[in-house]
This record gives sequence, C-alpha cells and structure tokens, in this order.
Amino acid sequence: LKNFVSVEDLTVNQIESLLARAQFFKDGGQVPKFGRQLTCANLFFENSTRTKLSFTMAESKLGLKILPFEPESSSVKKGESLYDTLLTMSAIGVDLAVVRHPQNNYYTDLIDQPHSQLELGILNGGDGSGQHPSQSLLDLMTINAEFEHFDGLKVAIVGDLTNSRVARSNMQLLNKLGATVYFSGPRQWFTPEFEAYGKYLPFDELLEQIDVLMLLRVQHERHTDLRAEESFSPTAYHQRYGLTMERYGHLAKHAIILHPGPINRDVEMASELVEAPKSRFVAQMKNGVFMRMAMLEVVINGRQLGGQA
Ligand code: CP
Repeated sequence: LKNFVSVEDLTVNQIESLLARAQFFKDGGQVPKFGRQLTCANLFFENSTRTKLSFTMAESKLGLKILPFEPESSSVKKGESLYDTLLTMSAIGVDLAVVRHPQNNYYTDLIDQPHSQLELGILNGGDGSGQHPSQSLLDLMTINAEFEHFDGLKVAIVGDLTNSRVARSNMQLLNKLGATVYFSGPRQWFTPEFEAYGKYLPFDELLEQIDVLMLLRVQHERHTDLRAEESFSPTAYHQRYGLTMERYGHLAKHAIILHPGPINRDVEMASELVEAPKSRFVAQMKNGVFMRMAMLEVVINGRQLGGQA
C-alpha cells in the first residue's frame, strides 16, 4: 500500500499477513533494516493518548526519525491547509505521516490530487466518525490471540455506534473474515448504514451467546444533542447499556471484552471490570504497538522507501 487510510479495500490475504507480521514483531522477530534513515511525523488534530504514543513507539522500534509536529504552534493556525502542511513536510524530506483529523475522509483530497508533488505516505490515525484502521487491526490481533480464527465468531459491538470510527472499521473487517456481527446500545444510534453488517439486539439477549464483546466509548464531544439537552445520565446509561457486574456474570466462560479506550469508567463498563479476567483492554494497547509497526512497514514497502540495507 502507498497509503494506509482505510480497511475497506483490504483483502483477507492482506489482513492475514498484517496479523502474522504484527505477531512476528511481538514475538521478538528481527526488525527490518532500511537502506537509509526514514523520517516520520505524527499530525494529530484531535486529542489522542493511545494512537499517538503507540505509533510513536512503533516508529521508534523501526528506527524511524520522528519529526515533532503540534498543530497549535504550526502555520495551520494561520490558515494553512492540511494538504499544504503535508506538502511542506514532503518537501523537507518527511517520508511518512500519521494523521488524525476530525473531518471524515480527509485523506481523499490528499491522495487523489492530480499533478501532486506530495511524496509522503499517509497512515490514518482516525478520521472523524469514518475509519480507525490501526485500532480495528489491533482489535483483530487481540481476538486472534484468543480464538485463532474469525469465521463463525459472534462479536457484539455495543454503544455509541453513530459516532464510532472503531465500529465502522471493525464491522467491515469482521464481515470480511466471516464473523457474525451484532449491534446493541441505544436503539437510535443504530442507523440504517449498520444494517448491512449485522443485526441489532437488546444487550441482555446477546450476553450469553457472544464470543467477543466490543464496547464503545460514549463520545460526548461529538454529541451536540446530548450537550444541548444535558439529558445524558452516566448512571442511567450504565444501567441500560453498560457492562455492569451483573451482566459480566452472564457472559460465556470463554468470552472476552474489548474497549478501544479511553474508557468512561462506570458508563460503558463498571470500573472494577476494566482489568477483570475477561477484559483485554491492556492486551489491546500492547498489541497496538506491533500492529502499527506492521502497518508502517507495509507503506514503507509499498513506496519502496526501504531500499537495500
Ligand atoms: N483508541 C484510541 O484511538 O485512543 P486515543 O484516542 O487515546 O488515541
């Protein structure tokens, strides 16, 4: 791949080879040596802890030089566009850029420009409510570590579906791999676009039959309706749609729980369940570093940046 911006067009072979490569890195396999020093920048126009730090760690493990960039102190504040910001980076020798941006599909305008002199590879660190490729691939890695297959697995994606790029990327990948996807949470957040990927069922009907429970963060910053009405009650949400201690007891013995983070404790899940035996929250964050190494390597190879070591 010359850019890694979406999971939509990934083939099953590409997904499987990313999973294998990430596991290879996790198992201590030899990191590739590139023929020249490659440089990378992380451009985060939305807040992040996991994705930004995990990509930074992955870049560092691959021996990339990391050029610092903060939107607040950049010429973006003078009105410079994202394209011109990246064109500048490309001109000064940056090879790869990881970009998180609030605008859905921000990358389409960057990679489809005719006569473009933009020569760097773009990896999507999350676009609005569109895609979150690295999160969904690290989620697959975490599921694979547990079950070693996807075909026939029952996965419930529960919570703030409308605003979730994690839900969109995961439902696309899981469908491709033969898993059965269910959705739950507030019914009004299950909009028609999700129907093609799985059924909506009440949370309590799903608990005993699922293999994987994928909880989503309630994204208050994107819910202008909730803010305006001040109608959101964390306690009421937790009781109706959250993983309470009681619901945890109904999960199958082998079931695992994922959450992309950050977690609203006692909203999506009871605080004491974050590190419970079925929770894979910490494993997801660990796996993220290795999956991001694999993704960076795919773009380095796709652009033939590595050369001969
Ligand atoms: N999962 C995730 O994207 O977390 P951050 O927003 O902290 O990067």
